[in-house]
Amino acid sequence: MLGLLKDGDHTAEQVLTTLDLADRLKTERRAGSEKPQLIGKNVALVFEKPSTRTRSAFEVALRDQGGAAVYFDSTSSHMGQGESIEDTAKVFGRLFDGVGFRGYAHHDVELLAEHSGIPVWNGLTDTWHPTQALADLMTMREALGRPLQEISVCFVGDASDNVARSLLVTGALVGMDVRIAAPAGYQPEEATISAARHAARGLGGRVTVTDDLESAVRGVDFLYTDVWISMGEKESLWDQRIADLRNFRIDAAVVTATGNPDVGFLHCLPSFHDDATSVGRTVKQKYGFDGIEVSDDVFRSPASIVFDQAENRMHSIKAMMLKSYFPSIGATL
Ligand code: CP
Repeated sequence: MLGLLKDGDHTAEQVLTTLDLADRLKTERRAGSEKPQLIGKNVALVFEKPSTRTRSAFEVALRDQGGAAVYFDSTSSHMGQGESIEDTAKVFGRLFDGVGFRGYAHHDVELLAEHSGIPVWNGLTDTWHPTQALADLMTMREALGRPLQEISVCFVGDASDNVARSLLVTGALVGMDVRIAAPAGYQPEEATISAARHAARGLGGRVTVTDDLESAVRGVDFLYTDVWISMGEKESLWDQRIADLRNFRIDAAVVTATGNPDVGFLHCLPSFHDDATSVGRTVKQKYGFDGIEVSDDVFRSPASIVFDQAENRMHSIKAMMLKSYFPSIGATL
């Protein structure tokens, strides 16, 4: 049965039909006409890292559809410490109908899939965040009301992370114009760029990776960024990171540089866009930034559709789970 471990595992058609279904489910939920189709499905959510959106998306989606989730944080199962991932996966396969996993090593989610025999969905590993990419694409298509093959997006900042990697590969696969503007050392590694270029061939996608911010953002439909500082990361690493990335911060000048008065702004969240977090406060005091990877004015501007994007995590994860159990389920009734 089809889970989702990384970007590129699904065909363009599978991604696009998942997005069509997500659109339908969103409409039906709002109209109060959604029909539960996951009744009796029990899903283990194994989250070794904190989450607001991804966990909520899985749990609400399952509840809407008549299924149930059992949540394990990093201390509440034996997996990885007191019991091998292989043995845990075999137990999950006897008791559950699916597993949502968030953790560190990508190999761990592969082990779960290999040994459980049930759909396993990657809710973020160090290298991939494929459910985020589904919501990103859904949000861009929804905002512009045109096919993804006619949409461009530029990821600006630290593009060596899982979010940028997933956007690059899945965006290219469905025929988007995907651009990365990042300094050397913060770009996706060559293997991922090659995989994206290969994936782009099918539907005519375009892949650009450059350190020339101005040319990358020119005429683009969407700007996208993610945090430069990860949760719990040592403060001693911040100086270098901020020095390297400070010219790749999305602010009003970058928005103007797009030349597109209707450019949209995306962020996977959480974001350090103001001083309402301890990291944001420390950076503001130390470096004088009002917002780190994005300025507060851009984050709060009408261009920003980050909360649509967050909501769409739920609709797209719901569609993804439904497609795992009912691969031919359509977008229309
Ligand atoms: N974007 C994202 O994965 O959010 P959470 O960390 O809150 O799940």
